[in-house]
Amino acid sequence: MAEREYSESTDRIVATEPVEIRRYATHTRINHWFTAILIVLLILSGFALFHPSLFFLTALFGGGQAARFIHPIFGVVACISFLLLFLQLWKLNLMRREDITWARNINEMLAGNEEKLPELGKYNFGQKVVFWGMFWLLLAMVVSGVMIWQQFFPSLVSIEVRRWAVAIHALSAVLSVLIIIVHVYASLWTRGTLRAMVGGRVSGGWAWKHHRKWLREVARRQDTPPAE
Ligand code: HEM
Repeated sequence: MAEREYSESTDRIVATEPVEIRRYATHTRINHWFTAILIVLLILSGFALFHPSLFFLTALFGGGQAARFIHPIFGVVACISFLLLFLQLWKLNLMRREDITWARNINEMLAGNEEKLPELGKYNFGQKVVFWGMFWLLLAMVVSGVMIWQQFFPSLVSIEVRRWAVAIHALSAVLSVLIIIVHVYASLWTRGTLRAMVGGRVSGGWAWKHHRKWLREVARRQDTPPAE
């Protein structure tokens, strides 16, 4: 079996004209969009409880009590869903030397000279930072969230620890909203990226321009005959 360092086993070159590359299998896309929808619901129900001026958002969930009940449930389901995505993608998000060189010279990319930067695997430095940021913040939110979930865990921690948990929960929530804004902006800013998560495929040109090492590996793997 050919070694896989930069790609998933489901990534494929599709012999269309012009050529396309399959970047996400259907189950990964369903997993991504299910997580995204839950996180949006989580943010809306969380903001509804965050400050009285945002209380009107509770109307979306059937009132204050209902929003308070459903918010932690959205949180647990979103974390499980993200965990499934995490298990599929974490290896491809490990930092590599070329990512650091790429980040140091990011001005070349912004100036449209991506050719001067090192060839990249499936994800770039920015995507990897977003990935690990989401991971650590969701972890902080689920742990602190359970500590303040009084309906089911009324005496899990002391009042002092609970106060810290509330502060950590709110701070992680604000940071994760910022990260999600960056994530959505970046996926719209780089033309041709959104279709990777919608239809599952990118153009050959997109792959060559932004993730050439990934493309080379997928091509090499397809050239290799299956192991006996
Ligand atoms: C709500 C609007 C969102 C949009 C429009 C969006 C769009 C995208 C797109 C286009 C990609 C493919 C990027 C590529 O293959 O280069 C992607 C990847 C990804 N998205 Fe989203 N996304 C959204 C929300 C979220 C949320 C809420 C999460 C999780 C908290 C999330 C987690 C991920 C992960 C883990 C990847 C794979 C990238 C990586 O592993 O580094 N996305 N997203």
